[in-house]
Amino acid sequence: RLHSTQATFTTHISQLTSHDSLLTTDNSRLTTHKTLTIHNSQLTIHTSAPLSTSNFHNSRLTSHVSRFTHNSQLTMITYEKIFENNAAWVAEKQATDVNFFEKLAKEQNPDYLYIGCSDSRVTAEDMMGAAPGEVFVHRNIGNLVVSIDLNVMSVINYAVKVLEVKHIIVCGHYNCGGVKAALTQQDMGILNPWLRNIRDVFRLHKEELHAIQDPKKQFDRLVELNVREQAINVIKTAAVQQQFIHTGYPIVHGWVMDIKSGRLIDLQIDFEKELKGIQEIYRLV
Ligand code: CO
Repeated sequence: RLHSTQATFTTHISQLTSHDSLLTTDNSRLTTHKTLTIHNSQLTIHTSAPLSTSNFHNSRLTSHVSRFTHNSQLTMITYEKIFENNAAWVAEKQATDVNFFEKLAKEQNPDYLYIGCSDSRVTAEDMMGAAPGEVFVHRNIGNLVVSIDLNVMSVINYAVKVLEVKHIIVCGHYNCGGVKAALTQQDMGILNPWLRNIRDVFRLHKEELHAIQDPKKQFDRLVELNVREQAINVIKTAAVQQQFIHTGYPIVHGWVMDIKSGRLIDLQIDFEKELKGIQEIYRLV
């Protein structure tokens, strides 16, 4: 499973760039998933294991960080800091528009429904540069759209019929822990029925996936195919099919976030072609 740890440098952040790499621990397995993201003097370190403050002080990370940053102090984001950040965010919004929250409280009128993974590194609004009120968001492990999941089905129905969103995006990401788990031949307990949906995607596309020799490339491809199949699951809903006939919306898209670069990749799903393709069997209008 993948975890991320957010840490703040008090000084010399400018000496680090996203091209720098850090060794996180002596365990070589943990170094394979490392990526750095630096934004507003906040350094985010991605590893395949959770890091705690004690890790920073006791592991090789501390020495590597000090080599880059000279006397800087590494601190974890604390519970209290979240509320300080929130107060700063409120002040910043009000500085640009004194009535910002008054307007926000009145209604929401988003054009986008975003269905993505719960992974803490794939932040919907942040990576889209979207403001409050612009995106209706649903996230779960593996960005799955399961027809008997009342949660995601309620979200889709409300977004389509009440909010009348123009676009529905299913967004996956490389290095997805959920997809990785579905590639593992092991009993995952309570996660089994959920991950089964990803295993089903593998079975649907097993010829293509078995033809890929490189396990990393096979993993990446399964991430893409999972997005594609979940986007098709969105198109299978009565709400989407009916609304599209009446209004020409919503259009369904599939994206992958490349976690190593932060870039969003549009999988260029041909919505109308997919809609026609599924209606032989799934027509609900
Ligand atoms: Co994920």
